[in-house]
Amino acid sequence: MDVLIIGSGGREYSIGYALSKDENVDKIYFAPGNGATDELGENVNIKDYNELAEFAKDNGVDLTVVGPEAPLVDGVVDIFKEKGLTIFGPTQAAAQLEGSKVFMKNCLKKYGVPTARYIETDSLEEAEEFINTLSEPIVVKADGLCAGKGVIIAQSKQEAVDAVKGMLSGESFGDAGAKVVVEEYLDGYELSIFAVCDGKDYVVLPAAQDHKRLMDNDEGPNTGGMGAYVPTPLVNDELYQKVEDRVIKPTLKGLEADGMPYTGVLFIGIMVVNGEPYVLEYNVRFGDPECEELMVLFESSVADMLYKAATGNLKNAEVKFKENTYAVGVVLASKNYPYSSSEPAEIIVDEIVHEDLKNNSYIAYAGVSKDEDGKLLATGGRVLVCVGLGNSIREARDRAYMLAGQVHFAGKKCRMDIAYQALRD
Ligand code: AMP
Ligand code: GLY
Repeated sequence: MDVLIIGSGGREYSIGYALSKDENVDKIYFAPGNGATDELGENVNIKDYNELAEFAKDNGVDLTVVGPEAPLVDGVVDIFKEKGLTIFGPTQAAAQLEGSKVFMKNCLKKYGVPTARYIETDSLEEAEEFINTLSEPIVVKADGLCAGKGVIIAQSKQEAVDAVKGMLSGESFGDAGAKVVVEEYLDGYELSIFAVCDGKDYVVLPAAQDHKRLMDNDEGPNTGGMGAYVPTPLVNDELYQKVEDRVIKPTLKGLEADGMPYTGVLFIGIMVVNGEPYVLEYNVRFGDPECEELMVLFESSVADMLYKAATGNLKNAEVKFKENTYAVGVVLASKNYPYSSSEPAEIIVDEIVHEDLKNNSYIAYAGVSKDEDGKLLATGGRVLVCVGLGNSIREARDRAYMLAGQVHFAGKKCRMDIAYQALRD
């Protein structure tokens, strides 16, 4: 089949990378793609979703896969479906799970899914009243999409009130802060769990753990994610079962009953507190950088799974993972990430002579472009992810860092402790 992947990051590169090795896939298009995805397929520079759907039709695209949240929240799936195209992702209505934290929290409450106690409000007084019932730290979230920056963990009640003020006034996040969620702080460890859904059925993928803070020991500002590993031993069968019974099943049933059956990948941000899972948030797409590790762990065809999910036929998909295999991904970011953009810098990748490394690692390119001479440039943000595979997390981690040592660009930085929660004694 021919596949169109919407997006331009490392997540989309990794989906393309998996599909490029998939015997069910002939041709891959990326819209818009990045300076490296053109090695896996063809970059298509069409921004308008109606035009893109026409392109898919004219070129006989069999399946479109949407990487990032913005096109989903903007309704790209509805546009493609109206034109009779097959697309993997939730409709605009269901994508509100990520587009609006108020919508998401209200769904969790309605469907009885465990989550932090909260209120949603556009009134400072109401927020203040609730803040006074909580103990510190206190979590304040802007309602709308803020590229992962709309969550404040306030260390005092005053800081929480100030955060609410900044959001409601539009100062902090513009329209995205017109409503806020204030909630209790959950103290535990975080997991990323992904369920591929076809509107009725679902398949749970091996759980991942991301590292959101910029610096080692989870210090510094929040980022989009500085590295991840899959599967994490911090989940056992009992926890998976709890997540299925208390989170996935009621959510899919509730959304279906409310006329928004969920197709696509449901990304469940979980906080485990004393062995119990609580939903921090839903996202309506694969995690980045979690996807970069997940994509190399499939034994079965990724294209087949995505196609069957998009066509309501997931129960007939065979989804298998490589046995006894782990993947660790280390993000190499540019100098000023996540504060500001950085000067473009040439990327040099050493020839990898070590067979073991060559066969058990890959680079997922994200913030890269090509100059007129075809040189690969780091263009800021999260530049690429070095992914190592192995029969243990330690082996996979060592390979990821070995690869990271063979990639060079000015200002390159990374965390040195990815997967530490799985490796401490
Ligand atoms: P979110 O965008 O909702 O995932 O929030 C970003 C990050 O803030 C999460 O990954 C958590 O690390 C943290 N966070 C969000 N909500 C809570 C909460 N209720 N308790 C503790 N940490 C939270
Ligand atoms: N890695 C977290 C995210 O994609 O939101």
